[in-house]
Amino acid sequence: MSEAKRLAGEKAIEYVEDGMIVGVGTGSTVAYFIDALAAIKDRIKGAVSSSDQSTARLKQHGIEVLDLNATGPLSLYVDGADECDPHKRLIKGGGAALTREKIIAEASRTFVCIVDPSKQVDVLGRFPLPIEVIPMARSLVAREVLAQTGGQPVWREGVVTDNGNLVLDIHNLSITDPKGMETALNQIPGVVSVGLFARRGADVVIVGGEPPRVL
Ligand code: A5P
Repeated sequence: MSEAKRLAGEKAIEYVEDGMIVGVGTGSTVAYFIDALAAIKDRIKGAVSSSDQSTARLKQHGIEVLDLNATGPLSLYVDGADECDPHKRLIKGGGAALTREKIIAEASRTFVCIVDPSKQVDVLGRFPLPIEVIPMARSLVAREVLAQTGGQPVWREGVVTDNGNLVLDIHNLSITDPKGMETALNQIPGVVSVGLFARRGADVVIVGGEPPRVL
């Protein structure tokens, strides 16, 4: 799949325009995008990064990383996904970067999602849904999620997010109403963010292949 990821990441460069500050997601597909971005770094003003991991890679390439509070709204955000449905709604957070990813997606006019074909599903939920939680609320949120959805919450032990929080992965879901579930789970006290990107899904999905497909 890494070849498909590379092809998707490189195709996304076509959405980068001169003078842009580019929102950059997290993950192995985005790593290919960052490497391709390095080749045109003199044409952009810099990047806003969704994780320490992506920040390190951007800086290695000499791409300036800017604070979203200083940039204002962005024109473009490029990020991967763990699942993508035909309506461009996503599950994200496999890399535990979902909260910052959600913030940048919301701040951006165009969200280009780059995936390999294995990420395409008809109904979201086969990939366990990540939820970032405040540490003291871990058990409370797990109980509430089980009661509300019937899904099985599993604590991603040993993982601490860039924001100092924990991640629960919710197994055995079939998400027929992604917006409704996103809204409901967001209401549970202690939930920082839910890895469902349905209210703000992708605008464009690039599926890596020879040639890449643009949805
Ligand atoms: C990071 O938290 C995730 O949302 C990633 O975007 C997602 O896991 C995709 O990762 P890969 O590109 O490594 O498959």
